[in-house]
Amino acid sequence: MISRANPIPILVLFCLLHSTEETCPSMCLCTSDTVSCSSSGLTKLPKSLPTFSITLDLNHNHLSWLGARSFSRMSRLEKLWMAHNQMSSLTYGLFQNASSIRYLDLSSNKLQVVEQHYFQGLWRLEELMLFNNKITQVEAGTLSSLSSLKKAYFSLNQLTNFPFFSIQDHSHPFLTMLDLSSNRMTHLPWEDLKALPSLLQRGLFLHNNSLICDCSMYSVFWHWDLRGYDTLRDFTEEHTCSIYGDPRASIQFLRHTRFFNNCTMERAVSQPVTVLLSKVLVTEGQRVRLDCQTSLSSANLSFTWLSPKQGIITQYNIDDTLMSMFANGTLEIQAAKVNDSGLYVCTAMDIIQVLNATREINVTVLLPAAESFNTGYTTLLGCVVTMILILIYLYLTPCRCSCCKQPKPPAIPVATYDPGNLTSTADQHKIHRNKHVAFMQPMLSEEGLEWTHES
Ligand SMILES: *[C@@H]1O[C@H](CO)[C@@H](O)[C@H](O)[C@H]1NC(C)=O
Ligand SMILES: *[C@@H]1O[C@H](CO)[C@@H](O)[C@H](O)[C@H]1NC(C)=O
Ligand SMILES: *[C@@H]1O[C@H](CO)[C@@H](O)[C@H](O)[C@H]1NC(C)=O
Ligand SMILES: *[C@@H]1O[C@H](CO)[C@@H](O)[C@H](O)[C@H]1NC(C)=O
Ligand SMILES: *[C@@H]1O[C@H](CO)[C@@H](O)[C@H](O)[C@H]1NC(C)=O
Ligand SMILES: *[C@@H]1O[C@H](CO)[C@@H](O)[C@H](O)[C@H]1NC(C)=O
Ligand SMILES: *[C@@H]1O[C@H](CO)[C@@H](O)[C@H](O)[C@H]1NC(C)=O
Repeated sequence: MISRANPIPILVLFCLLHSTEETCPSMCLCTSDTVSCSSSGLTKLPKSLPTFSITLDLNHNHLSWLGARSFSRMSRLEKLWMAHNQMSSLTYGLFQNASSIRYLDLSSNKLQVVEQHYFQGLWRLEELMLFNNKITQVEAGTLSSLSSLKKAYFSLNQLTNFPFFSIQDHSHPFLTMLDLSSNRMTHLPWEDLKALPSLLQRGLFLHNNSLICDCSMYSVFWHWDLRGYDTLRDFTEEHTCSIYGDPRASIQFLRHTRFFNNCTMERAVSQPVTVLLSKVLVTEGQRVRLDCQTSLSSANLSFTWLSPKQGIITQYNIDDTLMSMFANGTLEIQAAKVNDSGLYVCTAMDIIQVLNATREINVTVLLPAAESFNTGYTTLLGCVVTMILILIYLYLTPCRCSCCKQPKPPAIPVATYDPGNLTSTADQHKIHRNKHVAFMQPMLSEEGLEWTHES
């Protein structure tokens, strides 16, 4: 049937249609569903663009202004690349009748304020790229109509804040990535951040900003770090904050946690915890006092200790002669034994303000050694024993060194908190190990930390 029809009128009609609607602009390259006009020196949009295109590439041009409904005839347009142009603002209704757009790249332009109307109608938009502009502000309602949004990039701008509150579970159910790194944020509304959908918290990039160190900031990052978010792991060094807002006093706060020692952390499981963490090194038989000084300073505190050996200790077993607690929360171990070693956790509760704060102390009890008496006699004795051991070693070769090892004396018997001088054993505290994964490394490596609350 078709072969019998005269093909010429159809061909003419087809050509006419193409010449009016679907011609490829001379400076562009057109393929089946893609129009590429990148690096074509464009200062305005070509008059006629093929209406069937799915991808329109306008990267690397000099576009500075586009009229309303510029893309309204491209009903299938899904990907619009406009990076590296000169756009400083977007006209009202620019994307009207362009609701099939799913990827929009406006990175490396000159946008300043992202106004509420900019992306109106783009309810199918999944990825929005606005990095490397001059954006100082994102208006509150900007993202509200973008219910399909999955990833949004605002990195490398000049943002000092962001309307986090406009993002909620139901408003953006697919949003898993929000890049706000390399901006100029000093303070953030941390309560709003904590209220973000957890899927988005996991994909929130905030590194390389101008954050000012404080406890509320640290607390949020501490939790994210504890949960092992890649956003923090991948950019540990770029997470910096400045002390007292002085940009010269900038610290990598995921590595150097000692500035936050006095911060109270609210745990995810609604059990607040302070980062106060210290170590005590004693020799067996010594009396140990562990204080429970936390960030709470009310007069009406009640205290609870969790010890590795005795479990929970409250004020009421004060008559326990081995381990007792004073009214001020200080726990006393009369004569420490090696098996008293472990993690001691004190919780101070302010019943009136309904606040909890916790202090953790890693106690290590070492075996006593003859030399610790430190008299001339014991030193002499030590020498004699060593001589005998050497002789035994020389003359009784089958005995390997490991079977005649002496217990190693501690350098100084210490009864104070001494973080720099810790060498020993004790592993009975598996219950609370997870509590300070985030702090053990920095605490161990940082010399010069003072925890001498008592002596
Ligand atoms: C364009 O959008 C307007 C409303 O935004 C709508 O009334 C109109 O029908 C649309 N036109 C086309 C061709 O889709
Ligand atoms: C940090 O941000 C500044 C601009 O705020 C940028 O110039 C710099 O390249 C960024 N550094 C990193 C490591 O991202
Ligand atoms: C933490 O608190 C102690 C005692 O209250 C104080 O001496 C110390 O300076 C504080 N540390 C920081 C980093 O604020
Ligand atoms: C404080 O700790 C106690 C005992 O662990 C707990 O019962 C209470 O719920 C905690 N309070 C808050 C506000 O988390
Ligand atoms: C708590 O009380 C005991 C006994 O009265 C005292 O030895 C200790 O120094 C006190 N600790 C603090 C931190 O005030
Ligand atoms: C701890 O060691 C003492 C002796 O040093 C021993 O009497 C006691 O039973 C031990 N306790 C535990 C729980 O192992
Ligand atoms: C306590 O300190 C010892 C010695 O540094 C260490 O091996 C142990 O893991 C620490 N325990 C906890 C619970 O931090």
